Amino acid sequence: MSAVILALETSCDETSAAVVAGGRQVLSNIISSQVEVHRKFGGVVPEVASRKHLELLNQVVAEALGAAGLGFKDLDAVAVTYGPGLVGALLVGVSAAKAIAYGLDLPLVGVNHLEGHIYANFLVDPALDFPLLCLVVSGGHTDLVLVKGHGSFQVVGRTRDDAAGEAFDKAARTLGLGYPGGPLIDRLSRQGNPAAVNLPRAYLEEGSFDFSFSGLKSALINWLHRAGRLGGDVNKADLAASFQKAVVDVLVDKTLAAARENGVTTILLAGGVAANACLRAELARRAEEECRRVIIPPPVLCTDNAAMVACAAYYRFLRGAFAPLTLNAVPDLKL
Ligand code: KG4
Ligand code: ZN
Repeated sequence: MSAVILALETSCDETSAAVVAGGRQVLSNIISSQVEVHRKFGGVVPEVASRKHLELLNQVVAEALGAAGLGFKDLDAVAVTYGPGLVGALLVGVSAAKAIAYGLDLPLVGVNHLEGHIYANFLVDPALDFPLLCLVVSGGHTDLVLVKGHGSFQVVGRTRDDAAGEAFDKAARTLGLGYPGGPLIDRLSRQGNPAAVNLPRAYLEEGSFDFSFSGLKSALINWLHRAGRLGGDVNKADLAASFQKAVVDVLVDKTLAAARENGVTTILLAGGVAANACLRAELARRAEEECRRVIIPPPVLCTDNAAMVACAAYYRFLRGAFAPLTLNAVPDLKL
C-alpha cells in the first residue's frame, strides 16, 4: 500500500512539512529553521517560535507539495506532531493539520515527536526486525527505548536531569561559543584532544540505564573558574572535545549495556544529538566490536523534520490509528 502522507512538524523551532509515500519514499522534506531569529536570545523563545510558525507554515506546506509534484487532492492522510514540545508552537501545526483534514475529508494522524525521531530509522531501513533499542538524544530528551513492535515502546532508561542536547547547549554557553551549542561543540572538538581534561562520567547505580549530565556541566564550570583564577590559557577546543567525549562515553556504554541486557542485536540512533560526529562514530565502532548492527539516520533526519513524522504516521495509518478532529497539543506527551 503506497499511501501518500503530508506531515507537519512545529514542536520547537523548525517549521517543517514533508510528503512521504508508503512510509519510505521521501518525496519532499522542507525544513525552515528559526535558529537565526532565536540566536540573539541565546535560546528558543516560545512565543516568538509560535508566531514564526504561523508566518511560515502555509508557505512550507506549499513548498512541500510543490517539491513532491503533488497537490492536496493526491493525499491519503495528514499527520502532525501533537507533543511533546512547546504548547504554542505545537498548536500551530495541530490547528493547520486539523483544518486540512477537515477541509479535504482526510484521516488525521497524531504523532508523538519522540516516536517521529525513532521512525527516522525506518526511512533508512523499512525492514527492521523487532525488538530494537533506540537511543533518543534531543534537546529535551535522553531516553533508551525498547521498541517491541510498531507503536510498542518501553522506556528502559532516561535522564534524571539535563537532556544530552541541553548539556551540549549549556556547555557551549559556558565556553562562550554561542547558540545552538551542539553543532558548535561538535565542530570545535575536531581540533581538540578529548583526553586533555579529565571530566566525570556519571554511571549512577549498578545496572541502571538512566543518565545524569548536570554533574558534568558543573565540573566544566568549576574547571573554567579554577583555570580563570590560575590565569592560565584555556584551550577551548580541548575542553569542548573532552566534554563531548564524556557525554558520548556514557551514552554509548549505557546503550550497549541495555542492548546486552535486553538481547537486542539492532541499535537505532535518533534525535538532534544523533547528528554528532563523535557519537555516530563511537556507537558504530563499539557496536561493531560486539557484532551488533547500528542504524544511524543522516543528520538531516536526526534533527527536527517532518519526514520522520510522516514515516511514524504511516504505520499508525496502516493500523487505522487515527486522531479525532478534537486532537489537542499535549506539551508533556509521553511515549
Ligand atoms: O531533536 P532536536 O532537533 O530538537 C528537539 O527535539 O529537542 O534536537 C536539538 C538538540 C539541540 O540541543 C542541539 O544542540 C543538539 O540537538 N544538536 C547537536 C548536534 N546537532 C544538534 N548536539 C551535538 N552535536 C551535534 N552535531
Ligand atoms: Zn526533536
